[in-house]
Amino acid sequence: MRRRALGRTGLQTTELGLGTWGLSGDAYGAVTEAESARVVERALQLGISLFETADSYAHGEVERRLAGLLPAAPAAVVVTKVGTDREAVPPRKRFDAAYVAAAVERSAERLGRSTLDVVLLHNPSARAIARGEATRILRDLAATGAIRAWGVSAGDEETGRAALAEGAPVVEVAYNAFHRRTLRAILPEVKEREVGILARSVLAHGLLCGHWAADKRFPEGDHRADRWTPDELRLRIRHLDALRPVVGNAVLTLRSGALRFVLEEPAVSCAVLGARSVVQLDQLVREAGREPPYLGEEKLAALARRLDDLRVEA
Ligand SMILES: NC(=O)c1ccc[n+]([C@@H]2O[C@H](COP(=O)([O-])OP(=O)(O)OC[C@H]3O[C@@H](n4cnc5c(N)ncnc54)[C@H](OP(=O)(O)O)[C@@H]3O)[C@@H](O)[C@H]2O)c1
Repeated sequence: MRRRALGRTGLQTTELGLGTWGLSGDAYGAVTEAESARVVERALQLGISLFETADSYAHGEVERRLAGLLPAAPAAVVVTKVGTDREAVPPRKRFDAAYVAAAVERSAERLGRSTLDVVLLHNPSARAIARGEATRILRDLAATGAIRAWGVSAGDEETGRAALAEGAPVVEVAYNAFHRRTLRAILPEVKEREVGILARSVLAHGLLCGHWAADKRFPEGDHRADRWTPDELRLRIRHLDALRPVVGNAVLTLRSGALRFVLEEPAVSCAVLGARSVVQLDQLVREAGREPPYLGEEKLAALARRLDDLRVEA
């Protein structure tokens, strides 16, 4: 599997990584612990070297499970995220210095590592970043060697910009054919400062696979039930027409096209996959392509034209 530098952190990552939100049971419904373990083990077999998680996933249980599964791969880069206090009722975001410092310690304990590879602030607001408290703590921990690199998982452009203004060496953003704007907004600075970009939600939560009927509904507890109204979902499914021109030759499916679109962006260090089963992971790895060009300029241009014509990001 090809590797890319994680910006200027000195860390390397395979260009496909494994995200673990879907394996937590918090987001897309239940996954058995056994299947979740099989997905991580399969990722290792396939050569995936970056594993992305958060202290909040299954209340810390996903970090604990990773600790048990990853000693087999000391070179694996673990990216975790802090800043969600799920013990509070109701759960709340916390980015004060004391909370962030204690959360990093708890993650290190659960992950069974004295040095953490990458710690990100988990969906802070731009204001929380600008206060500087949380970023100062992470910077200090990086300076003492307790963590190798730090950054921000940014939910929008404003947060992405705030993260760069604070000097974050790593930024995680949603990036896919239907959601280009966050990365686009920060791209010039990302390139100039060689920031490591982790691209998540590369399939737009599964939408870009093109498997859903127009009347698709999600069960309670699946975050997608609250993400789109039935009308919005119908429109998004129609928007998939924009992606169709990329299918052909080596690109056998929309899913493959969507993933390859992300890999075409050189500023992306790693596409963080959300596979929830071994079958899904195998499909994604098989269909990703092995080296550039993943789609090629002609297909990229056709896709860009169609996305604009259909006003997908309007
Ligand atoms: N704020 C943050 O930091 C943040 C936010 C979101 C995600 N993330 C991380 O990024 C990872 C991925 O993001 P994501 O879950 O938003 O999105 P994603 O990868 O765009 O979508 C995941 C969903 O795509 C479907 N899928 C995956 N592989 C498939 C395949 N081969 N064929 C058909 N469908 C497939 C599955 O849907 P079904 O369940 O319907 O099968 C899966 O739940 C997460 O696990 C998490 O670790 C971080």
